[in-house]
Amino acid sequence: MSENKSKLPLVLLVDDEEVIRDLVGIILRDNGFDVTTAADVDEALEIIKAKGDFNAIISDVKMPRKDGIELLKEAKKLLPITPVILLTGYAELQTARNAVTFGAYDYISKPLDEISQLIVPLNRAIEKNRMAHNNQKLMGDLMTINEDLVKLLDEMFANPMEPEELKVKVARILEKHKENEKVNAPLRSVWAKWVDVHIQIIDSQHKEILGALDVIAEAAKLGSKKEAVKHVFEILVKYLSVHFTTEEALMLKFSYPGYEMHAYEHRFCLSKTLELWEKYDQGDEPSLQELTSFLKLWIDDHIPGTDQLYCLYFKEMGLLSQINN
Ligand SMILES: [Fe+2]
Ligand SMILES: [Fe+2]
Repeated sequence: MSENKSKLPLVLLVDDEEVIRDLVGIILRDNGFDVTTAADVDEALEIIKAKGDFNAIISDVKMPRKDGIELLKEAKKLLPITPVILLTGYAELQTARNAVTFGAYDYISKPLDEISQLIVPLNRAIEKNRMAHNNQKLMGDLMTINEDLVKLLDEMFANPMEPEELKVKVARILEKHKENEKVNAPLRSVWAKWVDVHIQIIDSQHKEILGALDVIAEAAKLGSKKEAVKHVFEILVKYLSVHFTTEEALMLKFSYPGYEMHAYEHRFCLSKTLELWEKYDQGDEPSLQELTSFLKLWIDDHIPGTDQLYCLYFKEMGLLSQINN
């Protein structure tokens, strides 16, 4: 991917009419966007391949040969998280509406009465793209941490180790991913409803998750600054992800029959959490309350319910002492 030297949001503007390209291009540049133009779909795709990334794409729907919908489909394959906004005349309005259901971010009717009709959705689209990039990076970080943790678990099962040694090794992994100094930040552990699963590593992870959630819930109540909330949220998501991986690794290791269903619940929890966070980060303040309520309900249901099922299985299979040692 080529580097964005200008640091301005990169917008690809696609329209077969030169006058529109020029006019909209000027408006966008005046409003702080770095604009590249293309006269048709093939040229746009060539530019995407050469430049590597855009923060948003604006495309006319009706163009000769290939239309904006074809561009949308092709662009989504190359840049899955780049929002595409369609510019549409009255005749193609329904086509543009339909396009939203299969991936267009928004559509704008031509002719534009006011510049804000273009700038407002474009800014929203760029913000969405920024957050999608952040989430992608966060998930990438988590995957690497998780890979290391899974290796550690394998090592632990091959050569049982003392809890202290395990703690040091986990700390070392987190240290290795040091840009995550947040991961090691001290958290209060307020474990309101204690339900033991009798596996040391899992019980302590449950406490950490509850501690982080408690801090977020309090921040939501107090209307704390977004930066502070964000800091704890990132810790919470890391804890959740590390914890889910630990549980799933144990389930796989010991052929737990409920693995698929359990892992599905974990994935649902993470995706809903990120979805509500995105809404909050976009300025929808009530989403933070919704997020904490969702997580509290989910955890209240999952730990004493779904988690207890594998706990019971491990217990009945006589595996608890093996796992804990
Ligand atoms: Fe759990
Ligand atoms: Fe679980």
